[in-house]
Amino acid sequence: MNDIITLAIESSCDETSAAILKNGRDVISNIVATQIDLHKKFGGVVPEVASRKHVESIDAVIQSALDEANMTFDDIDIIGVTHGPGLVGALLVGLSTAKALSFALNKPLVGVNHIEGHISANFIQDKELEPPFICLIVSGGHTHLAEVKDYGKYEILGRTRDDAAGEAFDKIARAMKLGYPGGPIIDRLSKMGDKDSIKFPRIYLENDSYDFSFSGLKSSVLNYLNAKKMKNEDIVVEDVAASFQQSVVEVLTSKAIKAAKEKGYDKIVLAGGVAANSGLREMLVTECKSHNIDVKYPSLDLCTDNAAMIGCAAYYDYINGKVDDLSLNAVPNLKL
Ligand code: KG4
Ligand code: ZN
Repeated sequence: MNDIITLAIESSCDETSAAILKNGRDVISNIVATQIDLHKKFGGVVPEVASRKHVESIDAVIQSALDEANMTFDDIDIIGVTHGPGLVGALLVGLSTAKALSFALNKPLVGVNHIEGHISANFIQDKELEPPFICLIVSGGHTHLAEVKDYGKYEILGRTRDDAAGEAFDKIARAMKLGYPGGPIIDRLSKMGDKDSIKFPRIYLENDSYDFSFSGLKSSVLNYLNAKKMKNEDIVVEDVAASFQQSVVEVLTSKAIKAAKEKGYDKIVLAGGVAANSGLREMLVTECKSHNIDVKYPSLDLCTDNAAMIGCAAYYDYINGKVDDLSLNAVPNLKL
């Protein structure tokens, strides 16, 4: 079979990214233009600002991906693009660009679910990895526990009922005025704090549930911070960060292991921005070892948003016969 070269485009939130891949798992280039500095001063992503910045950056980002791969549009076989979930205006920039390229170059268009992209980052990281496995997808917008039965075949076991895991990190960091995005900052501070110093709740929900809830934990941390302020007592941010992170990590790890054991899997795969969390990686590795479960996670640059992961998902969709036409639309709440 001839090689299939994919041009992938991602613009669902605050990263404008384009990548070139050979046969889905071989990343030739992966350019990510982050808007983090732009949104920092607002303490979070401002949708309209994000869309405008995507418009400004997207052509140059795609050209850089081609240049770095030493390729031109003539070398491209398929075009993969995130069409949801995400911010609608942001998604439309990448999607309209992909559609225009697909039409002009007469190449197949493959719409990709962003969450499926996060899972697929693991296929790039570990070339031998094959489904089936349990996947814990934890990002700024999503928290899912899923059975990955095959390429493109998922069964959702549980999801968050309120905040996503990354959202909780970001909100707690914001409350302590630590900066944006909060996840990496809390991760770094946690290393200097005592994780057992403050007993924040672990929210497990019903015994048989694989769902998550982080808003109760968030309120508990906010109440703790307010009470300290009222009493004019010092807040040790490192201890708050470490204790909060420990609460999130314990629940995520325990539910992922429960799912693997109950459903009969020997592999747990992490995905999404929060998969970069050092506490989560450490605890999952330790706990899985004692249960004889294998753990995989992507490198830090593949955990957060990037187009390479979208290209990998697009490749498997394409070889499984899934091609979209130009009526493909952005779907902000697209389900896995
Ligand atoms: O996957 P991603 O780039 O975007 C979404 O699809 O949402 O995830 C971004 C999220 C943010 O909430 C950020 O705070 C979190 O991932 N994050 C982390 C870490 N690095 C990024 N959370 C905890 N620990 C980290 N090291
Ligand atoms: Zn993402």
